[in-house]
Amino acid sequence: MLYRALERRCARYSNIHPVHGNVMSFEPDGRTDLIFLGGLLMYLNEEDVIALLRRLLPFLEPGGMMLCRESTVRGDTVVRRGDYQAVYRSVPDYRRIFGQCGLSIRHVERNEPYVLMQMGCELVKTWKETVPERFQALRGIGHLTYFMFRLGNPWITRVSKFLGIPFPKLENHFFVLEPGMS
Ligand SMILES: C[S@@+](CC[C@H](N)C(=O)[O-])C[C@H]1O[C@@H](n2cnc3c(N)ncnc32)[C@H](O)[C@@H]1O
Repeated sequence: MLYRALERRCARYSNIHPVHGNVMSFEPDGRTDLIFLGGLLMYLNEEDVIALLRRLLPFLEPGGMMLCRESTVRGDTVVRRGDYQAVYRSVPDYRRIFGQCGLSIRHVERNEPYVLMQMGCELVKTWKETVPERFQALRGIGHLTYFMFRLGNPWITRVSKFLGIPFPKLENHFFVLEPGMS
């Protein structure tokens, strides 16, 4: 369904060619200035991340860059198993992995809108876990949380950092990568 929506959206752009398949067997058809991997590496184990990045690297034009957007954690890697499987790595862990692939981080930036949304999700989840169901009033709490974060942005995302509280548990970062060692 997601792919069909992508196809529809891209139909009017002649320079975009959607491909549906496993990225591990994807072969680019030429060199490019930018390779963007959005929320993808978190679904691959480390061996596959390294294999993929090493395979894509030769397709970058000189001076080109790779941009990754990934969910991250502050501490040790968290592996999520079960129905929804994902690997949440820390920024230093990604730095190490990128280094092993011959990529260095030119710039790393926290994805603030994502972090804001994640804060809201984690707050509502905690509310649901701690308040008895008949008092939850989820509709109202949802609206309240939404407006609290809308009005509190951007300072509200800095409060936990300032207080040294690991909240939200999950973050999200952009990594601008270039060939070479840092
Ligand atoms: C979190 S979504 C990110 C969507 C979009 N790229 C973005 O930046 O918002 C992750 C996407 O990666 C896709 N994905 C996960 N593993 C994949 C694989 N091995 N090959 C191709 N796509 C994969 C999923 O199907 C899903 O569409």
